[in-house]
Amino acid sequence: MKPLIVANWKCNPITLQGAKRLFDSIKKGIKNIKKVEVVICPPFVYLPTLTAPTSIKGYGGLILGSQDCFWEEKGAFTGAISPKMIKDLGCKYVIVGHSERRRYLKETNEMVNKKIKIALALRLKPILCIGETRQEKKREQGLRTLNFQISKAFQEVQEKEAKNVIIAYEPVWAIGTGISCDVNTVLLKVLLIRGVIKKRYSPNISGKIRILYGGSVNAQNATDYIQKAKTNGLLIGGASLMPKEFIQIVKNVS
Ligand code: PGA
Repeated sequence: MKPLIVANWKCNPITLQGAKRLFDSIKKGIKNIKKVEVVICPPFVYLPTLTAPTSIKGYGGLILGSQDCFWEEKGAFTGAISPKMIKDLGCKYVIVGHSERRRYLKETNEMVNKKIKIALALRLKPILCIGETRQEKKREQGLRTLNFQISKAFQEVQEKEAKNVIIAYEPVWAIGTGISCDVNTVLLKVLLIRGVIKKRYSPNISGKIRILYGGSVNAQNATDYIQKAKTNGLLIGGASLMPKEFIQIVKNVS
């Protein structure tokens, strides 16, 4: 299985020109790398532009994803972006339940579950973000949080669909802080997550499901998270806005 490297641009860059420049630099930098699956998740408004000029060449090696989607396909939902719309623009992946949305937009586990179900129904691959907050870590409630978030997110998700969900373990305290999580701790969490999935579904699904790590990943620590912590890839925020650093990460893990 190729490592999956997902760039989460969040609310950046602030101009279309900046987004095009960043996309093109990354595209150029990784064009000869075949052993890694690279997904770019830009803000919604840039998706059509980033799709159009590259679609003929198959995205120049890059796959598009979105940072979120609504849980209904269409209707009277002002401001919402339908999963059908992002699919129509060429997205293959969709991030759901990112801690920033849980925190600032009060996204609940129930909303996350609805988004996962509609994404799967439309054959979009959901990247489910889970992780403990600093406070939960202090109170040693990390494992409980992961367990709870997984059980809610996978409610009514059938066994045959479950393997299409990608789980990104992102300790909230490690996101955008420069404090990355210790590799052994990530390994422990990966094993725990596989255990939870095994109990809920089967050893087969548990072995197949992809688990990523995210939280202050850079070119120095990226390889360890894949080789030593046995993840299947990375979810990258800050470093994905720096083309040189991001390209180096992709090269290091290839
Ligand atoms: P970071 O963000 O790499 O800047 O820590 C990761 C994320 O939020 O997905």
